[in-house]
Amino acid sequence: MNKPAVLVCRAVFADIIDRLREHFIVETNQPDVVWSRDELIAHLQGKAGVFVTGTQPIDAALLDACPELKAVCSMAVGYNNIDVPACTARGVLVSNAPDVLTETTADFGFALMMATARRISESEHFLRRGEWTKWSVDLFAGSDVHGATLGVLGMGRIGQAVARRGALGFGMKVIYHNRSRLDAAIEAELGARYVGKDELLRECDHLVIVVPYSAQSHHLIGAAELALMKPTATLTNIARGGIVDDAALAEALRTKQIAAAGLDVFEGEPQVHPALLEVPNVVLTPHIASASLPTRRAMANLAVDNLIAALGFGPNKGRPPTALNPQVLA
Ligand code: DGY
Repeated sequence: MNKPAVLVCRAVFADIIDRLREHFIVETNQPDVVWSRDELIAHLQGKAGVFVTGTQPIDAALLDACPELKAVCSMAVGYNNIDVPACTARGVLVSNAPDVLTETTADFGFALMMATARRISESEHFLRRGEWTKWSVDLFAGSDVHGATLGVLGMGRIGQAVARRGALGFGMKVIYHNRSRLDAAIEAELGARYVGKDELLRECDHLVIVVPYSAQSHHLIGAAELALMKPTATLTNIARGGIVDDAALAEALRTKQIAAAGLDVFEGEPQVHPALLEVPNVVLTPHIASASLPTRRAMANLAVDNLIAALGFGPNKGRPPTALNPQVLA
């Protein structure tokens, strides 16, 4: 039997490619070139499956230009780059990579929130510039994390893991806002109280944003929302660029409307709004919340499990473990 052909859009671990080669003819991109849309379409010709990350846009027009494509398997949990209804309408299976990155991403979100509250980046830059000449009573005095009120916007798996760290590790009071309220048992375990969005913004000392990106969550936090927050509050975004209006946030940081921000994701990344680069009270990281080596390996392996199963091979043949539209294989 001829092996189907698949494409791996970005550089990945060598053993991931070996796993795919057991079943498929594999085209790789180990030089890690960021292909344009037209280049991606060209590389997809004749491919039955594609391994993507969270950055390749897969939409109706691309699918129509690649009629042999049967499976789009992403190593990211967020899938706002993939038009799932368009895939479903064309019988294309889509999978993402939930669960395997939850704890790693929550670790990072908590670390970023702590670095923001305790001004770690700002003070390191000061020290590296050679400006540390004496100890002072208020030198880089920030705000406490322990005992403070943690506001979680988006209480899915990662939001709950952040809340658990705050409640159980740091004695934080947890309030949250989400599309739907959590089960009472989970609220009790986390000591979490459900509140409206405005109340969340008004009451929290540290806001952590973990909502998925969609048309509905675009600029969920803009100038009006930032104006509700305490001047001592911090904002941490580990979700997606575009949920926060970066220009409005830079202005709120410049005018000290809020104390500080920690950002791992940006509108239009890898570009960063120039005004954010101008303000000192922001910790900036390049979309690395899930980037521990074991977790990135687990994410890539899960995408491969899905691709192998979606194209009818391996122990899960026909039952990709984390399919978003399993009905297309029914
Ligand atoms: C995810 O998995 O969605 C991370 O943001 C990496 O893209």
